[in-house]
Parts: sequence; structure tokens; C-alpha cells
Amino acid sequence: MKWKIVENYEELSAEAARLVAMQVKKKPDSVLGLATGSTPVGMYKELARMYRVENLDFSRITTFNLDEYVGLSVDHPQSYHVFMQEHFFRHVNLLPEHTHIPSGDASDLATECTRYEQAIKAAGGIDVQILGIGGNGHIGFNEPGSAADSRTRVVQLAQRTIEDNARFFSSIEEVPTAAVSMGIQTILEARKIVLLASGESKAEAVHRMLEGEPTAEVPASLLQQHPDVVVIMDRSAASRL
Ligand code: GLP
Repeated sequence: MKWKIVENYEELSAEAARLVAMQVKKKPDSVLGLATGSTPVGMYKELARMYRVENLDFSRITTFNLDEYVGLSVDHPQSYHVFMQEHFFRHVNLLPEHTHIPSGDASDLATECTRYEQAIKAAGGIDVQILGIGGNGHIGFNEPGSAADSRTRVVQLAQRTIEDNARFFSSIEEVPTAAVSMGIQTILEARKIVLLASGESKAEAVHRMLEGEPTAEVPASLLQQHPDVVVIMDRSAASRL
């Protein structure tokens, strides 16, 4: 895995956006894998600026998000559907029919997971997958213990994830306990992976991802087997390396 340490969150966001923009220009019909969480927000903001000011064109781009909470409707304020609209989709010229997020309130979630995998395949696979990292080393919602060959499925959230994400909800009781998430194998099939990590709270997970043995106990460490991963992190996230 390659990694790059930058000074702060602004630089991290600019560098991530630069990599995505390069891909979009090189291949205007690219398939991008997108992530939620607070970390990629600055990158989305910078990409929106590039669209406005530099005419970066997303009209032929297709996107697939990593995950969605089970039980939240697409218009629930904390759903990742709303998150993506707010932070990215409504600011650029992506076509709505080109954006994909798993449905967390489908009546048959198993069918929804299979459908999502097939849609990724039908689009030709993911060119660049953006990832954040959970404090416990999760990627997407692949919690510790997730198998390396896992695909899109329903996952139970770890207690630490529920606690970490409680800040977005009015109380911890409102945080969903399950999600639909692309699997580790789904992520590893992306042709290129860009993982972003910012802040002291990620330092331990970053250390174990990059310097530990690959193990399902730290799902991000399984990325070590991928040939083209770049980790962009700020000084605090890199403080344990
Ligand atoms: C969530 C998402 C992950 C994300 C992680 C870290 O649980 N499912 O995709 O990487 O949180 O979030 P943050 O960037 O807010 O620290």
C-alpha cells in the first residue's frame, strides 16, 4: 500500500479531490465508489468547486455508495441517501439514474444485496473506490470479523460504531443497529482504492491497517492484498506510524 501524509484536513480533501478529478478527466464514463462519514465531506466540497469553477464534468460518471443503514427511508435526515444529496449529488451534474446507494428499507434485503452486486458488475466494476476508516478499522460497514470474501450483505453494527455514529442522531437509541454494506471482496475488486483518514481518533486503526498483519479483526488491513491502494492521511491520523 502506498501512503501520503499531508499537514491537515484541507490538504487531505484537496489531494483526494485531485485524484478523483484526474480519474474523471482520464475516463469521463468512470465508475466511482463513494463513501459517507465526515471524512470525505471536504473532498466532495472541493469536487463541487471544481465542477462550478473548472467545469469538471460528471455527466457520464456512475457512482455506487458503500452502504446504507437498515430501516431508514431514503428521505430520513440521517440516511446516506440524504447525506449524498446534501454533500455532493445536488452540487454537481451527476445524472440521478447514474447514482446508486443500497436501499436500507427494501422489503427483501437479501434480494436488494444481490441486485446491488449485479448492478456494479453490469456497470463494468468500480474504477476508483473512496473509503474512510472506522475507529475500529472498519471499511464501509464491514466490522471486525468480516470475511475477506464477503459481498454486499446485511451487517450488524459493532457497539463502537453505534457509539461513534450517535453524534449524528438525537440519541444513541435512534442509531440503527444494522446496515447494508458492500463486502470486503466487493471493495477489493475496485481497480483502485483511495482511503482517507483524518484525526487522532483514527491513528490506532491506521497503524494496524498499514503495519499490522492482515486480519479480519482489522478489516482495513485486508486492503494490503490489493495492488493499487493509496492512503491519504493527515499528521494526527499518522501519529502512530
Ligand atoms: C461510517 C461509514 C464508513 C466511514 C466511517 C468513518 O461508519 N459507514 O464508511 O468510513 O463511518 O466515519 P468518519 O469519517 O465520520 O469518521
